[in-house]
Amino acid sequence: MNIDGVAYRSVWVDEDGWSVRILDQTRLPWTVDILRLTDEQQVAHAIKSMQVRGAPLIGAVAAYGLALALRRDASDAALESVAAMLGETRPTAINLRWALARMLAELRPVPAEARVKAAYAAAGAIAEDDVETCRSIGQHGLPLIQEIAARKPGKAVNILTHCNTGWIATVDYGTALSVIYQAHDAGIPVHVWVDETRPRNQGSALTAWELGKHGVPHTVIADNAGGHLMQHGEVDIVLVGTDRVTRNGDVANKIGTYLKALAAHDNNVPFWVALPHSTLDMSVRDGLREIPIEERAAEEVLNVTGQTADGAVVTVRTAAPGSAGANPAFDVTPARLVTGLITERGRCEASEAGLLGLYPEFAAKAA
Ligand code: MRU
Repeated sequence: MNIDGVAYRSVWVDEDGWSVRILDQTRLPWTVDILRLTDEQQVAHAIKSMQVRGAPLIGAVAAYGLALALRRDASDAALESVAAMLGETRPTAINLRWALARMLAELRPVPAEARVKAAYAAAGAIAEDDVETCRSIGQHGLPLIQEIAARKPGKAVNILTHCNTGWIATVDYGTALSVIYQAHDAGIPVHVWVDETRPRNQGSALTAWELGKHGVPHTVIADNAGGHLMQHGEVDIVLVGTDRVTRNGDVANKIGTYLKALAAHDNNVPFWVALPHSTLDMSVRDGLREIPIEERAAEEVLNVTGQTADGAVVTVRTAAPGSAGANPAFDVTPARLVTGLITERGRCEASEAGLLGLYPEFAAKAA
């Protein structure tokens, strides 16, 4: 997608042919900073510190991290230990482990002397797969927006979204935001309610930035405003992404998603979840008990980072001095609250039958 008319992806190989470039998402929306990653420790730091974030993107960046590590040591032992280290950087998004498992499956049979080339090719294939997958997700979600638009001619379709599911959370296009971009590009009038998404503000900082750069009308709201807007008919549809979907259709996503699903259910607002195949975890059924939820630093809740009028980016404490904070970063929305799933293969019910209808090859996978 474009930043001020220049086409970008969220991760790419530098023109030197080996180092890896990312946008530093901790600096957005204030500065577009491009970082150069040269080894697996820098990659691990980028994922942990959320310089890169979003489920599909951390998978793709970890895959490149393995390629960087193999340049120094392409032995079997290094392959296994670096993959294990990168797999521990964040716990909830299954895409991270999916990408590393795909890399290991491709690289284990390759002799050490041929591994570096094979690793870059495999990481590149993961990135390209993600781009095409996210483009298709947008195509399969588009009819949902078209149907609503047809029911309210001349009026904007009001979409509420949570966290950031845009092109910077994937390699390109995004998941839920891919649907929104494609609806906007098709000429459908859309307006997006952007949850600010405390504590890290991926909505007000990242989603609002992305939508603004693409010219999509949007309004930032406090996380607590969604229920009120739904009660007053101001939300036509909720579109979110996810970090892991279980075999039963339970959905892990950024903290606060569950509350939006409850409010949507109570107000008969459709609640759709967009995901690529790499977000499916068919090995678990019960999202509430089986998905590990990342606990992040309390400081993210107790403090806020923003830009002052003179342009300085500062972090200030908003909580009372001495108070403790807790920071569960994801929650699980039970399948019963999900209207449906939007994937690169089409839309389906959030259930085992729905998922296996689109992905029959996963039927044999143990759960
Ligand atoms: O903690 P983050 O910013 O990595 O969380 C991202 C989300 O929760 C997204 O909604 C999710 O990754 C799915 S969309 C790509």
